[in-house]
Amino acid sequence: MCGIVGYIGNREAYPIILNGLKRLEYRGYDSAGIALYDGTGIQMAKTKGKVSDLESRADAEISKKGSLGLGHTRWATHGVPNDINSHPHYSNSGDLVIIHNGIIENYASIKKELINRGYTFKSDTDTEVLVNLIEEIKKKEDVKLGKAVQIALNQVVGAYAIALFDRKKPDEIVVARLGSPLAIGIGENEFFVASDATPFIEFTNNAIYLKDEEMAIIRLKKGVKVRKIKDDSLVDPYIHELQLNLEQIEKGGYDHFMLKEIYEQPKVIKDTYRGRLLANKGIIKLGGLEDHINKFTNADRIIIVACGTSWHAGLVAEYIFEDWARIPVEVEYASEFRYRNPVITEKDVVIAISQSGETADTLAAIKLAKERGAFVYGVCNVVGSSISRETDSGTYTHAGPEIGVASTKAFTTQITVLTMIALRLADVKGTISHSDYMMHLRELDTIPTLVEEALKSDDKIREIAYEFKDAANFLYLGRGYNFPVALEGALKLKEISYIHAEGYPAAEMKHGPIALIDEHMPVVVIAVNSNHYEKVVSNIEEIKARKGKIIAVVTEGDTTVKELADYIMEVPKTPETLSPLVTTIPLQLLSYHIAVMLDRNVDQPRNLAKSVTVE
Ligand code: AGP
Repeated sequence: MCGIVGYIGNREAYPIILNGLKRLEYRGYDSAGIALYDGTGIQMAKTKGKVSDLESRADAEISKKGSLGLGHTRWATHGVPNDINSHPHYSNSGDLVIIHNGIIENYASIKKELINRGYTFKSDTDTEVLVNLIEEIKKKEDVKLGKAVQIALNQVVGAYAIALFDRKKPDEIVVARLGSPLAIGIGENEFFVASDATPFIEFTNNAIYLKDEEMAIIRLKKGVKVRKIKDDSLVDPYIHELQLNLEQIEKGGYDHFMLKEIYEQPKVIKDTYRGRLLANKGIIKLGGLEDHINKFTNADRIIIVACGTSWHAGLVAEYIFEDWARIPVEVEYASEFRYRNPVITEKDVVIAISQSGETADTLAAIKLAKERGAFVYGVCNVVGSSISRETDSGTYTHAGPEIGVASTKAFTTQITVLTMIALRLADVKGTISHSDYMMHLRELDTIPTLVEEALKSDDKIREIAYEFKDAANFLYLGRGYNFPVALEGALKLKEISYIHAEGYPAAEMKHGPIALIDEHMPVVVIAVNSNHYEKVVSNIEEIKARKGKIIAVVTEGDTTVKELADYIMEVPKTPETLSPLVTTIPLQLLSYHIAVMLDRNVDQPRNLAKSVTVE
């Protein structure tokens, strides 16, 4: 996510803002910038790279004077990471300066209208469009900055946390939020704005947290006025007296980034389909896909290359693509694919899946596929990453930075993107009925709520974790769409608790692994309502007959498995094809709690790196 820091008061703004940006580095970013009002005009420095690069740029280019300023760390969503696309952004007149965290979905149509009115744009960002929309309204309606912002925000669709000021009225900052956090720190004759309290907690522990669809006008002499964006009505804000310490704030109050990211999944799944999935209209809009639909519909097959958790997402996609779009799919470990001299032709489409966009094996597999004529499509979480630049086209997940080494929200947002691609292709090919297409669209739209529901079992899952934290081995079993989820659950446990675990198709038990079953072997079985349900119940009975300890993921209200299993983890009723998005939640939480109880370094497990950029 982007980081926002602003200051207005009686001290030099530069050191406060710069240090505040450093406090927000944990959020992950690819560029940084600052704008200061120095008493006569605006000084701005911004750069691709780190806050340290911004510091060097500012030392070389600006006076660093002034007690009003805005700073920003950008996580690119529109426009690759470079100096021009970095924030802050000026309006055309140079009077307004804005910083923004979020996504303006309808920026293209607004940009077109502004161009018709003579506006020009330097960057590819939605943010520059927003600041010029505000400027256009301010001029046309002859209103103050706050009113112009309120009118403009009623015209945009998307998510935002913004802060801006007008050099002609340098005694105020205007902020607003919808879908991205924004805090206002209240000091003695000084105010702070930031994405969270870390940048100002050392100066004040009094903070207002704007709610969605609220804005605020912060005036040095008059204080903070909070208003509703929709109707400009005044709000009486609650002033929090913060007790949190710095580290707790960085993790959003969670003990680990991994847990924070597990809980972010409802939001980031929604962010990933926001503006792309219009369920009521029956529309899926994936910019990177539209121009290449024929490549997919005419393909002999789709080859998916990835590693680790991303490879598990690819396995889920295999089931979905073949079931809905009837296109043959092969899923390959990138590390094997790149060396086995695979048969690849121009009639193949390769999908490369990668959270980091920097995994060496996946990058090498992409290059090999391109050399042999395949069209390569990327599903990445980092804008401008090596893999996103190497692929012919692609769709970004909007999971935001994933700090925990164990991948969680990347997995579910990858599946979300792949599901949208499969649905779009199935609709174009006519391999599913329009009514089924519409049904799946509406079902996908319900997933964030179902994931929220699944997260409510956290306390129960922690109790189960306690019972099994000392086990030496685990087995994870699943069938159909949930076989890849069994593999993913086993990987989660292995990599953060260091307990050996294996995932298998449930039916594979009788081909060998059942020899492992005894009273010391916990077996996690995904046994939700599905076409395979009866067969999974038989597998559970086989395990029970050999005294295996059974932990079953079941659809809430299940009574059959509940009688057989030693422990159950309930998830809400979910359409089978989309069930991996929900059944993975209890497995993430189970591995998290076991690892915490074993006092493991959950966010940075031993021997692991977040991105494997070497072979
Ligand atoms: C998953 O929890 C691991 N961190 C690891 O398997 C990871 O999924 C794999 O290294 C691939 O990384 P990528 O998605 O960034 O390419």
